[in-house]
Order: sequence, then C-alpha cells, then structure tokens
Amino acid sequence: MSGWAAWLLAQGQVDAQMVAEAERVLEAAALRPGDTVLDVGSGLGLLTLAALERIGDGWVIAVDSSVGALEELLHLAHEANANGIMYLVGDAEVLPLPDASIDAAVLRSVLVHVRDIDAAVGELARVLRPDGRLSLREPLNRSGTYLSTAVDWAPLGGLGERVVALWEEFAATDPLQRLDADVLAVAFASVGFVALESSVEDPGDEWLVTEESVDARLDARGGPDHPTVRERWQAAFAPDEVDALVRHLKGLGGTTITFRRPQLYLSARRA
Ligand SMILES: C[S@@+](CC[C@H](N)C(=O)[O-])C[C@H]1O[C@@H](n2cnc3c(N)ncnc32)[C@H](O)[C@@H]1O
Repeated sequence: MSGWAAWLLAQGQVDAQMVAEAERVLEAAALRPGDTVLDVGSGLGLLTLAALERIGDGWVIAVDSSVGALEELLHLAHEANANGIMYLVGDAEVLPLPDASIDAAVLRSVLVHVRDIDAAVGELARVLRPDGRLSLREPLNRSGTYLSTAVDWAPLGGLGERVVALWEEFAATDPLQRLDADVLAVAFASVGFVALESSVEDPGDEWLVTEESVDARLDARGGPDHPTVRERWQAAFAPDEVDALVRHLKGLGGTTITFRRPQLYLSARRA
C-alpha cells in the first residue's frame, strides 16, 4: 500500500480533537434526514461515517482521488455495518457528479492538498443544489509555528540562523502553506456562495520534548509526498550539522513547546 491510504493509516487512531472537528463541520452543514451529502477527500471516512448517523435513509457520497483510501473506507464501513455510502474515485477539481445534485458538501483537511483550489471551489458550487450547504475545516498552516520557528535556535549561532532561513525559503513555496482564510472566502463568494461564516481557531499543539518525540516529529509527513524536516535538513546541511540540530532539540528534553495550529471553519449556502 502506498500514497494517501498508507499515510492515513500511519496517522493512527482518530483522536478526540479530530472527532470534535468532524462534529463541528457536520453541525454547521445542518444535515437533515434524507439528505444527499458529499464528503470530498473522504479519506478513511471520519466525516462520512459520522454524517450517516445524521441523515437517516439519505446517502453520503464519498469522493477521493485515492483508490486505496476508498478501499480502506469500504472495509471500515463494512466492519461498522454502515450502509448508505457511495464510493467515487474522483478529483475535487473535477467532481464526478451532475450539476445541482447535492444537498450538503463537507470537507476536512482537503483543500490544503488540492492543486487548483479555485477549480475545487467552482466544482462545489456546481454540484450543490440551490440552497445547498457547505461546511469545511482546513488548517491554516502559514500562520502556524513549527520546529524551525517555535524553537530557540540562537544558541547554535550561524547554523541556527540557517535553520530559520531554510524554513522561510521552504514555506514560501510549500503547497501546504497556501491556504488563506480571506482569499478562500472571496473565492467561495465569487462563485455564488452566500451567508458565508468563517472563524479561525487555534487549539494549539503542546509538545513534550523527549528523545522519541523529537525523532517522531523530525520524521513526520504532512502528506504522502511531503518531505519530512529531517529530509529537508539532510538535503541542506552537512551530516555533522544535522547531528548538531538534532542534539539541540534532544537537549530540550523535558520541556513543553506549544505550536500554533490555526484552523479555519467555513460554512456557506449556495445561492
Ligand atoms: C488529510 S486527508 C483527510 C481525510 C478526511 N477528510 C479526514 O478528515 O480524515 C486528505 C484526503 O484528501 C484526499 N485528496 C487529496 N487531494 C485530493 C483531490 N485533489 N481530490 C480528491 N481527494 C483528494 C486524499 O486522498 C486524502 O484521503
């Protein structure tokens, strides 16, 4: 297994925060019994499975570009004895659905991964019925903080400055740093969404530094094709410099670092 399915499975168990995020997205979508709900980028079905509980004999259409992720979802739904899901392989940029066929569309952590966000926004407008509801939650990574920006690298002098400079260079072109709440709201308004409500919240991310958690964080990926911090450091620095950076982090063992993790919740109605 590779790609998104492997990445999603590697993230492990759904935690309480993810469940709360999903509930909030579904609540804002005001789902009703009998609705046809579209979950774009359904992954392993966090929204799909929870939406089913709200729509009685309605349907959830789970669209994902990853066949592997849909296969895993099918397997999970089978285990949970969950009926009422349609599985469609497709891209958010070209949804495999007719015009005005959907009552509510929900997304969680998907637009951040889509290449052409405007195309995806246009497709959501096309497939939603008049008065159809949209609700999404996306990470606003560009306002977040990371190892390179939340840790004090000054004790490493010039090497520390290069860590920060390397991050700034990477972040300027990293696709996962593109999303902007205001730009997204304008994009939805421009294709016919009204009653737009958006709020940005930061649940934060408290990181207790330990030997193991340093390695885990250095090797974490934001998506299947996204480089890890260790890979970026190894490409930019000499091996003894990478060792010095890792030692610096591990030397902070026992302390807690809080990362900013702003999240956008946006809901709207199709005019
Ligand atoms: C971070 S996961 C989120 C999964 C799920 N929405 C959740 O909340 O757990 C992103 C999902 O979006 C899918 N995806 C990424 N780009 C996509 C695209 N252009 N069109 C459709 N799905 C896409 C991936 O295959 C993956 O399943």
